[in-house]
Amino acid sequence: MGRALQRRYTAADLRVFNREEASRFAPYGDGDPQTDVVLAWELLYRLEPELYDRLADAERLHPDVLSWLPRSVDRIAEVGAGSGRLTLELIGRGREVVAVEPAKPLRQILRRKLAAVDHGDRARVIHGFFDELPLPDDFADLVVACSAFTPASGHGGESGLSEMERVCRPGGCVAIIWPNNLDWLAARGYRYVCFAGPMSVEFSGHEEAVELAEVFFPHAAEEVRLRGLRRVPFEVLGINPPRDLAFKVLAQ
Ligand SMILES: C[S@@+](CC[C@H](N)C(=O)[O-])C[C@H]1O[C@@H](n2cnc3c(N)ncnc32)[C@H](O)[C@@H]1O
Repeated sequence: MGRALQRRYTAADLRVFNREEASRFAPYGDGDPQTDVVLAWELLYRLEPELYDRLADAERLHPDVLSWLPRSVDRIAEVGAGSGRLTLELIGRGREVVAVEPAKPLRQILRRKLAAVDHGDRARVIHGFFDELPLPDDFADLVVACSAFTPASGHGGESGLSEMERVCRPGGCVAIIWPNNLDWLAARGYRYVCFAGPMSVEFSGHEEAVELAEVFFPHAAEEVRLRGLRRVPFEVLGINPPRDLAFKVLAQ
């Protein structure tokens, strides 16, 4: 049986963080992934990146979210690109795509995927954090984050949002896909779009659904097992589907 995310790691695993990561994710030199799920996710990206990638592969974005994004722009910057769930959708839309990702093991997976697809060489994968983006002012037409930005300082916050806006050109768009704090973004001038329709997590098979549910949705694992299917509605897993985004078009 797969161990649930919050029981997979211990405080001893925080050693995997380098200095820059520790200052953002465990700033007081302590932290317990068994009580702090955000910390457990950060350890997952570094200790079991392929396991994270299996989940991201199954949790597909609503097609209208992808249709909403600009089809053809000069430059796109994506922050917190992970193993590329969104990045692979962006490479056909920008002459140049820069994917910023702090976790080295996820950057490696993303580079491997890009090497295997047409136009993958349009994307450059670089190290960086929301609050210190290694990109010039006005760099991109679209600056986007998917399931990565939060108002917490280690995962974006005020400084992260102002960095995304700094890197976006006047008239360009900053978009936060699958946002987790709508009021916070609305108070900073972000508009909200949500697309309708049933959505399921598309696991590659029923065994995979059960195994990943035990890790990521332990409260729903028994239900997933009983259903005997590879497609599991998001409601069964108890999470909001990736069907929404918050965005701001910057003044010219
Ligand atoms: C849930 S994953 C989403 C990854 C990818 N965007 C996707 O949709 O699959 C969250 C991502 O945010 C990244 N992240 C966490 N803190 C960050 C920070 N301070 N700056 C930039 N990225 C960060 C993580 O390394 C991870 O890749």
